[in-house]
Amino acid sequence: MVIHFTEGPHIRRPTDSSSIMKSLIRVIFIFIILVGFGLFYKVHLTLFSNHQNEPAIQPFFIPNIKAPNNEAPNNEATREIRPEEILHQGNGIFFIETTDRMEPPHVVMCAVESAARIYPTRPIAFFMKGLPKINTVEDENKAKIKFPSFSSYDNIYLFPLKLEEIFSNTPLLPWYKKVNTNNENDWTKVSSDASRLALIWKYGGIYMDTDIISVRPIPLKNFVAAESNDIYSNSVFGSLPHHSFTSKGMEDFVQNYNGAILGHQGPDLFARILKKFFCALPGFKYTEDVRCGNITLTNPDRFYPIAGPSWKKFYEVLDEYRPFPSSYALHLFDHANQGQYNLVPGSKTMVDHLYRQYCPYTYVTVLLKNRSSH
Ligand SMILES: *[C@@H]1O[C@H](CO)[C@@H](O)[C@H](O)[C@H]1NC(C)=O
Ligand SMILES: *[C@@H]1O[C@H](CO)[C@@H](O)[C@H](O)[C@H]1NC(C)=O
Repeated sequence: MVIHFTEGPHIRRPTDSSSIMKSLIRVIFIFIILVGFGLFYKVHLTLFSNHQNEPAIQPFFIPNIKAPNNEAPNNEATREIRPEEILHQGNGIFFIETTDRMEPPHVVMCAVESAARIYPTRPIAFFMKGLPKINTVEDENKAKIKFPSFSSYDNIYLFPLKLEEIFSNTPLLPWYKKVNTNNENDWTKVSSDASRLALIWKYGGIYMDTDIISVRPIPLKNFVAAESNDIYSNSVFGSLPHHSFTSKGMEDFVQNYNGAILGHQGPDLFARILKKFFCALPGFKYTEDVRCGNITLTNPDRFYPIAGPSWKKFYEVLDEYRPFPSSYALHLFDHANQGQYNLVPGSKTMVDHLYRQYCPYTYVTVLLKNRSSH
């Protein structure tokens, strides 16, 4: 917009009352434009910011605008970022991708984005095998360009998944050096099971599978999620660094390793460790959580209000969407789905509601992709 000032000289004649009036109107006009811009800018920023609890519209004059990463000085951009720098406080949220794919399905983007929104003050660390060369802030910014829906969140960090580094100083390293990955049928699964134990043992925090949508902060530090009365999941769990649960878990992993049995290093291992060192798995009567030594076993309602066999419910059209009042996150069972069912924006299915509410940037990305494919 171009504003033309055609009456400039009149301003210098304050005795002329009509010109005083004119300049007053002009000042008010400019003020309104500035306020308008300020408000628009602020609304734009806050609508798309990651602080879900802030009101969408704030007073526009409070400056809280952060310099974007790409304006960091050059020495900052080329400095190496190490996971331990970001994760040393033990409050990280961990995601792992053990395949080489660099265009993960929407559900992966949604899982990471929803965590970034629900935990705005905690680092969200996404370890990806397909990112072999991220060393500096500059590399990370380049990688983030591949994931446009992440770029609005300054608490998402992408790291290459370097197994040897992750397993270093743990019982898993000698196992990893011995194992012949060519003979392993489920290597992506097995290496993921191992990595999550090592990462949470090292840094502490919460691990989540990439098909889990966060809807509310998990108020627990040491927990294992029950999927049903007798199935303990390793899809989401949390602990302090160097907790005996994860160290016993890694020892058991190596001692009893059998890559041919699905779940043997996963849910079955979790149940073995709990029973052996923590408690005699009591099960759940109602909707309560249960203490198991110094670990909380979360009720199936917290992460599995829709149980595994019913996963198709996520893709059914709903008359009325009722949020899950006692859940922290929802497991979408993407491995059962295998891409048969997808989010269709505007379809009023449960995933449609969930994406719109908990990962709006991913939602918009899906929407735009759909529009452009027509
Ligand atoms: C948790 O309980 C286990 C088993 O009783 C114990 O070995 C460990 O030291 C405890 N850890 C913490 C952090 O309290
Ligand atoms: C795009 O949206 C329409 C309906 O809005 C749906 O029928 C179609 O399957 C969607 N396409 C893709 C690729 O998601």
